[in-house]
Amino acid sequence: MGRGPVAGQLIASLKRLEYRGYDSAGVATLEGLHIERRRAEGKLRNLEERLRDYPPSGHSGIGHTRWATHGKPTESNAHPHATENVAIVHNGIIENFRELRAELERNGAHFSSETDTEVVAHLVESYLKNGYSPQDAVQASLPRLRGAFALAFLFKGHEDLLIGARKGSPLAIGHGTGEVYLGSDAIALAPLTDAITYLEDGDWAVLTRTICMIYGADGTVVHRETSKSGASSLLVDKVNYRHFMAKEIHEQPTAVGQTLAHYLDMSAERVALPLTLPFDFNFIQRISITACGTASYAGYIAKYWFERLARLPVEIDVASEFRYREAPLRHGDLAIVISQSGETADTLAALRYAKSQGLHTISVVNVSTSTIARESESVLPTLAGPEIGVASTKAFVCQLAVMAALAVAAGKERGKLSEFDESELVRELIEVPRLIAAALLVEPQIEKLARDIAKASDVLYLGRGTSAPLALEGALKLKEISYIHSEGYAAGELKHGPIALIDETMPVVVIAPYDDVFEKTVSNMQEVAARGGSIILITDARGASEATVDTLMTIVLPNMAASFTPMVYAIAVQLLAYHTAVVMGTDVDQPRNLAKSVTVE
Ligand code: AGP
Repeated sequence: MGRGPVAGQLIASLKRLEYRGYDSAGVATLEGLHIERRRAEGKLRNLEERLRDYPPSGHSGIGHTRWATHGKPTESNAHPHATENVAIVHNGIIENFRELRAELERNGAHFSSETDTEVVAHLVESYLKNGYSPQDAVQASLPRLRGAFALAFLFKGHEDLLIGARKGSPLAIGHGTGEVYLGSDAIALAPLTDAITYLEDGDWAVLTRTICMIYGADGTVVHRETSKSGASSLLVDKVNYRHFMAKEIHEQPTAVGQTLAHYLDMSAERVALPLTLPFDFNFIQRISITACGTASYAGYIAKYWFERLARLPVEIDVASEFRYREAPLRHGDLAIVISQSGETADTLAALRYAKSQGLHTISVVNVSTSTIARESESVLPTLAGPEIGVASTKAFVCQLAVMAALAVAAGKERGKLSEFDESELVRELIEVPRLIAAALLVEPQIEKLARDIAKASDVLYLGRGTSAPLALEGALKLKEISYIHSEGYAAGELKHGPIALIDETMPVVVIAPYDDVFEKTVSNMQEVAARGGSIILITDARGASEATVDTLMTIVLPNMAASFTPMVYAIAVQLLAYHTAVVMGTDVDQPRNLAKSVTVE
């Protein structure tokens, strides 16, 4: 709610949220005594076009950019959804929307969309029609909704009123001068204010331009801290890069350097965690690591490090399986959840499951004010800065940096690493930002390679040891932004099935620094070559000289110690995915069907 027309502010904020979902968009404003809606299918620019001819003039409004869950990405399914007296926008899923819709239709409601969200508008309308005030209508409706939601409500005839509610999906209040805002995260509100109040699960807020009342699920007034957001509007800008992803790949030397500086005492060559953990690693018998997508591959790599350096057994699960697997967990053990956004619904649910089983919990997140951070016992932040490209890059390598430091700390505390071991490993970590900068120099070579990869319909990624999870990550990067089917495999698995796929049309990307399993990987490459497969070898100078097999291209990365190679080798697979997507002409920063933060299960 502003002191002037809000349509421009809504669009500016939606632009900063577009990375989270972008298949349709819309705004609703109060124009005198009625609610005016403008919506458009496709990218936000289509909505901007629609507003340009005759922009709404209302000083109160709501807006939404959508990642479709229920109902195709069409204009009629775009938010805001509205009835005669109320308009709403929603992030999440209303799981019981079918039964509510049936009840409302029986009572005469007419629906115009296939969405779960529209049910909420009609439910609130039904209470308004029964004489409820807007606040009472919302308070009566919320308990009837099952699932996850962040909601914002606008009411006809109430120019100085905005109501918001959250359960499972993030929602923040922004405080301006004689203005007040609601947003899914601080990034959306950054151009408007840095005074942010985060709502907790179950909270709902009744806002006017001068008063902010926050209530708990039971309707009692609750107090929530207002903090200064660090999500400045400058941080979210492509500068002179063509895409956010390119910028974020090139930010990695700095991002990883500042993250490591937060976890290491570089002069003493010691790990120095930014907080004292509320447990002793000597009493941890097993670590459960759980995450989704790229973050899960960071966890998978960390498994090798904890087991090797701290001799600690680690289980790694994708979050969507972890709690449904009903993993038998030991009270007092440790769960680590990894999440760039800190809002991924599956990961949040896994965190809550681990807490319910009495585990210590650590979250490794890039947004320290996120829901996952706020619900974890300890938070180890990645200092990657805002990551806007849907494909995670700098956050991934920063996650590896945090996990590497934690694994060394665990090994030291458990007496598995001597002081000498620790300083040697810390020295290796200190080298990583420089090595990443050196690895970026192969970009022209990879840009050339991308033209060949773009012709393929299937690509295989192989690796051994910590390069095996990196093969999975390389395949995910390629498929999610270029739409080329790709799979990652442990190289040793090739002969147990995937080799049947090999022919001259299938490029095979082999991630293989010269280490103690390099020779075995060379054998795998020979098996590929014998069947006409074209090999792209990502290795170091020694690997390049010792790999007795012809390749389509050999990408030579800087020599480095074997411990933490994925932090540097990730650069090559990120660049390959990026440049292939550019050749393919796909929407690199906002690939089809995806969203940056998946806040629905
Ligand atoms: C990464 O490139 C993907 N966009 C996706 O797999 C992502 O890693 C996953 O959705 C987890 O997101 P989070 O780190 O924000 O929890």
